[in-house]
Amino acid sequence: MKVSVATLAAVGVTVVNGVAIEPRGNKLVTSEGLRKLIKVKALEEKAHLFERFAYDSPDKNRVIGSEGHQATIDYITNTVKKFPKYYDVYQQPMPLSVGVSANLTVNGEDVAVDAVGLAPGGSASGPVVAIPNLGCEEADFPDDLSGSIALIARGTCVSGEKVAFATSKGAIGVLIYNNVEGDLLGYSLQRYPESDSDYVPTGGITQAAGEGFASLLASGGNVTAQLTTTAKDITTYNIIAQTKGGDQDNVIHVSGHSDSVAQGPGINDNGSGSISLLEIAIQLTHFSVKNAVRFSWWTAEEEGLLGAEYYVKSLNQTEKEKIRLLLDFDMMASPNYAFQIYDGDGSAFNLTGPAGSAEAEAEFAYYFDSIAKVNHTEIEFDGRSDYGPFLDAGIAAGGIACGAEGIKTQEEFEMFGGAAGVPYDVNYHEDGDTANNLNYDAWIVMARAIAHSTATYARSFDSLPPKNSTAIKARSDAKMFEYKKSARYLSMI
Ligand SMILES: *[C@@H]1O[C@H](CO)[C@@H](O)[C@H](O)[C@H]1NC(C)=O
Ligand SMILES: *[C@@H]1O[C@H](CO)[C@@H](O)[C@H](O)[C@H]1NC(C)=O
Ligand SMILES: *[C@@H]1O[C@H](CO)[C@@H](O)[C@H](O)[C@H]1NC(C)=O
Ligand SMILES: *[C@@H]1O[C@H](CO)[C@@H](O)[C@H](O)[C@H]1NC(C)=O
Ligand SMILES: *[C@@H]1O[C@H](CO)[C@@H](O)[C@H](O)[C@H]1NC(C)=O
Ligand SMILES: *[C@@H]1O[C@H](CO)[C@@H](O)[C@H](O)[C@H]1NC(C)=O
Ligand SMILES: [Zn+2]
Repeated sequence: MKVSVATLAAVGVTVVNGVAIEPRGNKLVTSEGLRKLIKVKALEEKAHLFERFAYDSPDKNRVIGSEGHQATIDYITNTVKKFPKYYDVYQQPMPLSVGVSANLTVNGEDVAVDAVGLAPGGSASGPVVAIPNLGCEEADFPDDLSGSIALIARGTCVSGEKVAFATSKGAIGVLIYNNVEGDLLGYSLQRYPESDSDYVPTGGITQAAGEGFASLLASGGNVTAQLTTTAKDITTYNIIAQTKGGDQDNVIHVSGHSDSVAQGPGINDNGSGSISLLEIAIQLTHFSVKNAVRFSWWTAEEEGLLGAEYYVKSLNQTEKEKIRLLLDFDMMASPNYAFQIYDGDGSAFNLTGPAGSAEAEAEFAYYFDSIAKVNHTEIEFDGRSDYGPFLDAGIAAGGIACGAEGIKTQEEFEMFGGAAGVPYDVNYHEDGDTANNLNYDAWIVMARAIAHSTATYARSFDSLPPKNSTAIKARSDAKMFEYKKSARYLSMI
């Protein structure tokens, strides 16, 4: 998909022979200068364009491996490549196995089963063995599972860890059953395999089915299963663009994710984040920068933050230390929004980040209080989006959001309007997550918040703690460990 010249013209970019005229100015970027260039019209236009990428594709979404997602990746890449003197652009390829279909019979009866992302295709036929204690530790598994199909409940750790243990004990297949009632869900192993032999064919089944087989086994019955899965191997891409100008050893890194879930076009989640970044990347070219600005659009966030994790793993220590701060943006235009800042200083939720995370939160608070003059709240700094792998690598992080499936409180209604007792985004992960259901008033406030922090850190890192090697260390605090055992966290895995 080629970037239309009209789209660039609409945001004030002069294009000659398909390449933008640049440099477009040498003035050092300012918050106000960059914010002024971020316009609702340009955001809205791109929201409709992303939606078209979804609806023009057979799957009607922008999930990884789909035509809609590839069109999104191509569009973003080609747009930043229009500024070859301003940005170095590259796509980081990432091979993935995407589940396509699965069939299961147990004791001769058909059982509803879901294909599982990242698991390989194949067939397994054999006795089912129930694994106790959720299978998050090696000790949960019998020493020899040769020829067996392991039955494991979802929860506490990502399914990839469970399947890797089962595989290492010789299991030829795995059935993961849900830990909540209801239909099948879009399962993913949520962990990038260390090697090709990490995983065996895996199917996702309901809680009722899984518990039924487990109790049959517990009462001495025999359970035999035939599982067949098909998967396709795809290559998906992270997109990274970095200014040629500015100190390349001190980088402000701003990011969002380019993929959607399968249920809909994903325009708020998280088209709104990636579009905001793209618009800021276009407008930043009007200015010079003191510190390099790196933009990233991660792939496969919805499968378990895979793109961001893959990227962080590809960096050596020297490269990690160049990133002074990572800012992550998702859900920028929720219809029943609240302006939320990640609680980087732990003042509201106790979970803190590496040195610099508190200062990033303060910078967003300054923007909402003193520039946009709107209220804001805080959300837990729990690492459940693409900034998580950066926190784990000891890189300071921050970000803002407008709310997902959570319910707006009465207090938040008084602060932001909208409706109390209703989700921030009723269309979260649904087919109604479309361009027409976005809140554009919220979006422009949020997009300018990103512009503010990008410009501020492109000028100077003086407001952050000094850079030193001891500051770059993995977040290993006891609180995060405690948190990972909490009911809230477990219900999200
Ligand atoms: C599952 O069964 C259906 C219907 O029998 C068949 O069309 C499909 O190819 C099977 N899929 C797999 C993965 O075996
Ligand atoms: C279960 O299978 C084993 C081995 O195939 C067999 O010895 C045993 O009788 C079976 N038990 C039941 C309850 O069918
Ligand atoms: C770290 O990675 C960069 C980029 O790949 C490379 O240029 C550099 O030599 C590496 N440094 C070390 C110490 O390995
Ligand atoms: C934060 O920690 C304190 C002390 O451990 C505890 O009393 C408080 O409930 C915690 N707050 C939250 C929001 O978890
Ligand atoms: C901020 O919230 C308070 C209620 O807590 C409300 O009275 C006030 O109008 C809000 N301010 C803005 C600018 O919305
Ligand atoms: C390095 O950073 C840490 C955390 O910000 C700080 O406590 C420490 O004093 C710094 N060390 C040096 C040598 O600057
Ligand atoms: Zn805070």
